[in-house]
Amino acid sequence: MNIFLVEHLKTDDLKRLEEKKKDNRAKGISDPFEVSKTNTLSLFGYHFGQTNFIFTNDRSGLTRSAMWLFLFIIIHAIGNLHVFLGPNDFNGYGYFYVRLYWTGFGLPANIVEIYVALGALLHILVALKRTWDMKLTATPKSGGLNLIVSGICLLTFMTIHLFQFRFGETRAYKLCPPPYLINVQGIIDMNHFLSLFWMDDSYCKGKQMFEVRDIYRLEFELFESLGWSLFYTASVVIFGTHMCLGWKKAIPSPQLDIPKRYHNKATHIGYIMTAFICLLYVSFPFYAHVFALKNGCSPTTTLGSDNFVWKNCSYTK
Ligand code: HEM
Repeated sequence: MNIFLVEHLKTDDLKRLEEKKKDNRAKGISDPFEVSKTNTLSLFGYHFGQTNFIFTNDRSGLTRSAMWLFLFIIIHAIGNLHVFLGPNDFNGYGYFYVRLYWTGFGLPANIVEIYVALGALLHILVALKRTWDMKLTATPKSGGLNLIVSGICLLTFMTIHLFQFRFGETRAYKLCPPPYLINVQGIIDMNHFLSLFWMDDSYCKGKQMFEVRDIYRLEFELFESLGWSLFYTASVVIFGTHMCLGWKKAIPSPQLDIPKRYHNKATHIGYIMTAFICLLYVSFPFYAHVFALKNGCSPTTTLGSDNFVWKNCSYTK
């Protein structure tokens, strides 16, 4: 609507300018004020009428954002695997992201999260535009609406998921983080194998502890509910379906430049990868549901966590 008004103004203006010019030329005079006024108005109009930023239903934005989101899904699955290592690892992994907030242009988020949000936004907008422009006449039976329907389900899941985990309230956990983001020695520490995001008692004692979000406890509390565990499992199935359908469509796209003779193979590799990723995601609610916290207990600090007795919430073995 706004753009239409400006266009209208611009056309009127140009007409007026042309008439004025003709008039002035006939009289042999020039009218700088009139010309500059008109130019200002036209300039204003041109800003809005330009085509530098156009939003089309071209598939390239969809494919590229899908590839980035796919990569993030793998990173996120690997990060979530830390839940199997215990509260120090999982909360430490969460705090690792927080420590990267300085990359977030002043926002309370890091660059990966911001880039994921932008990628998701592009993906959703282009998908909606393509559906609006090309598929609204498709019937559910034709399968043409499968991607948009599963996509809308995922958007709903994602909104709920972010409110539960990313913005959800948590208990504070006193973590002993490594001095430089990653505890390289933790990779080969046989007592705490792969402890990348925290330091043990020998380093912790007398050191400053940081209060971080206890997302470990949050996850166990949430998945104690069978309903939420099933909701997450169903969402992962929808997410797997969406990925397989999208992958099949993306393989022949020019952005990927895959020779035609490999399309079938590439499609099937994608299906296997998707199935594997989905299994990883399903394992989180399953694990947290089956191994629910005994008596609702979990440690509150890194210090002495080796001596924590899960059954009676005490710190002595
Ligand atoms: C099914 C099991 C899943 C679990 C247990 C899980 C767990 C988590 C947790 C704990 C966080 C918060 C991290 C923090 O605040 O430090 C988070 C954030 C997030 N999750 Fe998930 N997630 C799951 C599935 C998914 C799926 C299927 C997607 C995508 C389709 C996804 C996308 C995200 C995004 C975009 C964020 C925000 C960015 C971030 O903080 O990493 N999650 N998830």
